Amino acid sequence: MAFFKDLQPSASDFRADVLAGLRKPQKAISPKYFYDAAGSAIFDRITEAPEYYPTRTELALLDRIGPELKSLAGSGAVVLEPGAGSSVKIRRLLDALDAPSAFVGMDISGDHVKAACADIASDHPDLTVGAICHDFTQPLDVDALELPDGRRIVFFPGSTIGNFELIDALAVLKTLRDWLRPGDALLIGVDLRKDPAVLEAAYDDAGRATADFNFNLIRRINAELDGDIDPAGLVYRAFWNPYRSRVEMYLQAQSDLRFNVAGEPFILREHETIHTENSHKFTVSTFQDLARQVGLIPAHVWTEEGACAFSIHWLERSEKTC
Ligand code: AVI
Repeated sequence: MAFFKDLQPSASDFRADVLAGLRKPQKAISPKYFYDAAGSAIFDRITEAPEYYPTRTELALLDRIGPELKSLAGSGAVVLEPGAGSSVKIRRLLDALDAPSAFVGMDISGDHVKAACADIASDHPDLTVGAICHDFTQPLDVDALELPDGRRIVFFPGSTIGNFELIDALAVLKTLRDWLRPGDALLIGVDLRKDPAVLEAAYDDAGRATADFNFNLIRRINAELDGDIDPAGLVYRAFWNPYRSRVEMYLQAQSDLRFNVAGEPFILREHETIHTENSHKFTVSTFQDLARQVGLIPAHVWTEEGACAFSIHWLERSEKTC
């Protein structure tokens, strides 16, 4: 591997964030805390659940548009992936492109990104591969990385953008836009609005992987923050909120539930909830409007239509940005 940089993302404070979230009138825990080692393994199970269509739909779409991506990217592209997760999608992209010159993976977990990028480097001996321990919601001086001069492609698959509140999604898009020069592109996967029954099943699969993903948060709190939350007192709920165009996920108390976290007492009243995640769904035009707001010009979009509708967008940086 050509380089590893530790940009030391500020350690998020699990204890302070959980306590602050549990003190709110609508109790909430940030979804970023889903992804410890156990949670990441459960997420892999979610992506294999029959009801969870986004991963396999996006992969099939990527395969379908590979030849177009190859000609749009040109030879010698430099690919950057913020929040590099499992390497399946980036490998498909690298295989589709014409002799990409470099790949830089970034993740908040240094060990994870180092291992994933080392594997990619060993399978692509001609590729300059770098790994950066970095939080992609924070700015990054990409020019300082001294990368080859090909067209830059920032690859942000998985519809992760949908997990942010819209105001925060705009900030993320703006951050990624700043990594681009005119002519470079953001290649981003975006899940689309569809039949609420399909959406609700995708986020509440019969195999209970998504429920387990949520209960993993409770296990983490109990183990790491000296909590005594009785998981048997909670049920997992996911529902489509049409007014905010998102699936909302919660843990709900079946009856009054008293518990302590880090020495502080809490009570969840019967039917009261802890909000754990949102997954926003877009139409092609609502997403393109969002992108335009931060000076990203929609140049191409590819969609899978029907029950598992999904989109991949090629956005270019406009000359004028604010
Ligand atoms: C990571 N992210 C795009 C997933 C989603 O579909 O919103 C997270 C997820 N949560 C439950 N299932 C999947």
